[in-house]
Amino acid sequence: MLITAGPTHEPIDRVRFIGNRSSGRVGIALAEAAAAAGWQVTLLLGPTSRLCSDSRVHVERFQSTSDLQALLAHHFPITDVLIMAAAVADYRPLTSAAASEADGKLRRLGEGGKASGDSSGKGSLTIHLESTPDLLAGCARSRRPAQVLVGFALEPRSRLLESARAKLARKDVDMIVANPLESMEGETIEATLVARDGREARTPGTISKVEFAHWLLGQIVPAGASRSAQPPAPSA
Ligand code: CTP
Repeated sequence: MLITAGPTHEPIDRVRFIGNRSSGRVGIALAEAAAAAGWQVTLLLGPTSRLCSDSRVHVERFQSTSDLQALLAHHFPITDVLIMAAAVADYRPLTSAAASEADGKLRRLGEGGKASGDSSGKGSLTIHLESTPDLLAGCARSRRPAQVLVGFALEPRSRLLESARAKLARKDVDMIVANPLESMEGETIEATLVARDGREARTPGTISKVEFAHWLLGQIVPAGASRSAQPPAPSA
């Protein structure tokens, strides 16, 4: 089982980045629960201070979307189940401006001569962004028939299901776990799972992220049974 977790940091220059508030807690809880259930687990973990405490989980770290893309290219072909819990940036800075500076660092206007980036008037700086590749959709395009792919969607409660169903189709995955935006930084979570086969399941109210991990694995494994995704039988 391959699980991604945490935020991405998209470099603006050598010292600055655009990130997000993901803690990686859900993905880490999933990795620990899956290892306890007998799965061989690889966790691709972004820049967060939280760590995975289960030594059975193989952890590899990433910073940016492109780092994660390279790790997925390596690990996805040999995985049975991919759970993309990482909060991957949708846009990243075009780095050419900062990279062209001698020391690779943007300067404040008026300090040390000219500013880099695209200055659009005194006291303001424009950073151009480009869209990132959709890593989950990319994995779906190269999948083997037996592989199970699960994505996440963080949406306002008012359009949770509608957006989750749209994402399921657009990314061509087996399941989308929809979380209300309101649950983002909390200790607890409330989720609705929307599956390709039309199934929908809800967590029993608001539960801890550890309870959620066990609940989600319980939803994924029966669905994967028909696609041969099962934890390996314990060795004798
Ligand atoms: N994701 C990804 N690659 C990206 C962005 C997101 O693989 N560049 C994955 C996330 O890990 C998550 C799922 O896609 O599992 C949903 O991400 P989200 O950003 O909510 O979806 P988008 O397709 O970006 O849709 P929108 O921006 O309209 O919400």
